[in-house]
Amino acid sequence: MEGHSLVLPHRFGRYTLFDFIGRGGMAEIYLARVKTDSGASRLAVIKLILLEYAGNKTFADQLAFEAKLAARLDHPNVVQVFDLGREADRLYIAMDYIEGIDLATLLRQCSARGIALPANFATTFVVEVLKGLDHAHRRSDDDGKPLGIVHRDVSPSNVLVSLEGEVKLCDFGIAHANQVVTAHALGDALVGKAGYMSPEHARGESVDARADVFAAGVILWELLSGKRMYRKSETTSLIERAKTGDVPPFDAAHLPDFERIRGIVGKALAANRDDRYATSALLQKDLESWGRASRMMGSQLRLGEWLTETFGTEYIEKRRERARRIRELEDDSRMATLAQLAEEDRASRRTVPDVPSGPLLEIIESLSLPQSQVETMPLALPARVKAPAPTDGNPMVILLAAAVVTLFALGILAFFAR
Ligand SMILES: Nc1ncnc2c1ncn2[C@@H]1O[C@H](COP(=O)(O)OP(=O)(O)OP(=O)(O)O)[C@@H](O)[C@H]1O
Ligand SMILES: [Mg+2]
Repeated sequence: MEGHSLVLPHRFGRYTLFDFIGRGGMAEIYLARVKTDSGASRLAVIKLILLEYAGNKTFADQLAFEAKLAARLDHPNVVQVFDLGREADRLYIAMDYIEGIDLATLLRQCSARGIALPANFATTFVVEVLKGLDHAHRRSDDDGKPLGIVHRDVSPSNVLVSLEGEVKLCDFGIAHANQVVTAHALGDALVGKAGYMSPEHARGESVDARADVFAAGVILWELLSGKRMYRKSETTSLIERAKTGDVPPFDAAHLPDFERIRGIVGKALAANRDDRYATSALLQKDLESWGRASRMMGSQLRLGEWLTETFGTEYIEKRRERARRIRELEDDSRMATLAQLAEEDRASRRTVPDVPSGPLLEIIESLSLPQSQVETMPLALPARVKAPAPTDGNPMVILLAAAVVTLFALGILAFFAR
């Protein structure tokens, strides 16, 4: 994993970033503590957009637009986005922290350890993702007008699962912000995801909810057959394969009621979107009914138990390490005082507005303000505040004291000289 660009802990606004989680195609992910309005604090994830993207105004505006839509989503299968702002010249999104693992890492870990993901959990993953998608696709504005939200990047690295077995989809609309920037269109970040793109998306045509149905279908195909669906060859790239929608045969005859599940997967992956499931809910319904009838539907509880049994030690260790860092941060009250003093000093010198904070909708309005509104204030301060040395103090007071002592000594000398 590549390194991160911030010195930790790092503070901005009401967030204290204290741990680096990972890096994707267009952002760095940090674990942070956030102070709530009531004064309490909780964990959050800060997605810090890389400079080359955040510096592009079209991208920034589009991201703000998408984040505004994403913030309207409120569903157990969607990672909640609650803030968007600018830190110096960097753009960030704040969202809920999911203590667990993403599906891409889970699959990599499974293959490294020679473990197969049980088929019943494969069904659970996709059913839960479809519930989140359906919520987003049907979301409307306050007047009941559909918002037309499409995820556009439903892929294993954007599917998170907590150690309690809750499956959550993250990064709604972020791929779209990337796509509208022509310079970055089909750049590295996007090409990596071509393996989950519907043919119409790969061809650069307009997309609707059915593109997400196709992507969920690819995940289903891959989880049930235990391999990647589209593979690049020496002559054909992933994006070229995706454009044709030429899906390889679904090779999972070991599954119960195979013809039925093959029909479901085939309909989710129809190259022509008119032949596809029209909604996520319809695919979910068929998949769930196959899963129930053939006892291929794992419970969330069991999924959580399986994750903890299989990856438990590693993640419990990670969790302990994180908890230790948080304690360090909180125990060091003097460091907090220093940070507070520095903040007050900074505020008294500030001539530009502070970084936006508060409800997302207001923040977004302010995003077209010039960049670099706030100085970053790294909290990489000395861990302990030095006790004042005896020589510390006001020089005038020291001079006066020295003069008094000298006069006193001269007086004593004069007395004995007599
Ligand atoms: N809310 C979250 N809670 C916990 N971990 C998260 C959260 N969001 C992201 N992560 C972790 O950070 C990793 C990097 O996320 P990021 O979205 O930047 O990259 P990516 O999904 O791998 O690629 P892409 O840039 O294409 O989205 C994720 O794979 C996931 O493991
Ligand atoms: Mg992501």
